[in-house]
Amino acid sequence: MTVKIAVLVSGRGSNLQAIINSIEKDRIKNAAINVVISNRTVAYALERARNHGINAVFLDPGKYDKTGYDRAILDVLKQYDIDLLLLAGYFRLLGNEIIEAYRYRIMNIHPALLPAFKGLHAQRQAFEYGVKVAGCTVHFVDEGLDSGPIILQSCVPVISEDTEETLTARILEKEHIIYPEAVRLFVEGKLKIEGRNVLLLNRVTDQIHDQTGTDFTD
Ligand code: GRF
Repeated sequence: MTVKIAVLVSGRGSNLQAIINSIEKDRIKNAAINVVISNRTVAYALERARNHGINAVFLDPGKYDKTGYDRAILDVLKQYDIDLLLLAGYFRLLGNEIIEAYRYRIMNIHPALLPAFKGLHAQRQAFEYGVKVAGCTVHFVDEGLDSGPIILQSCVPVISEDTEETLTARILEKEHIIYPEAVRLFVEGKLKIEGRNVLLLNRVTDQIHDQTGTDFTD
């Protein structure tokens, strides 16, 4: 059975691309991205989707109130019979109706080691705070801001030559590894949720958590 995926985007779409690549290269088996939805008409992510023959939908937030917009997204998800919803650089908050309908079936990538540095400009927050280790997190989406159960994290050291830009770029490289990996684990039924804890079945947890510089895809 194929897991049908929708991706919500707002911009560049490099995480979308990483997931498309993993599916096309068969690193994620039995999954397909059926639709990419953007709240911005100029999002390059839409072009990436079209380049790979994926349906690309622009939903104009100007045409709806907040609830109406979420319903419009839900309609598209239903139309494509979506199993898994991925937020990949989607810069709007999701409404509760979608979160309830897709509980533990919505993932987000956040460019910080949650629960630190939630919200916008997470890399800048971390850089300005002076952390020595930064990173990224894939988590399930719940009603709070960047607060859902953590699936995977990856860390990068902050070096003295770093600028916000170099740190952001290094974190992004890790995002492109752990987001497809989290999707693969979901598709293979290897994520078990126990309260706030997401257990990674058949894997040694420490290998996942301590993989700075390591591409742990099989
Ligand atoms: C990434 O840094 C992601 O962590 C954050 O927004 C950025 C999106 O980048 N949520 P892209 O659109 O996937 O290139």
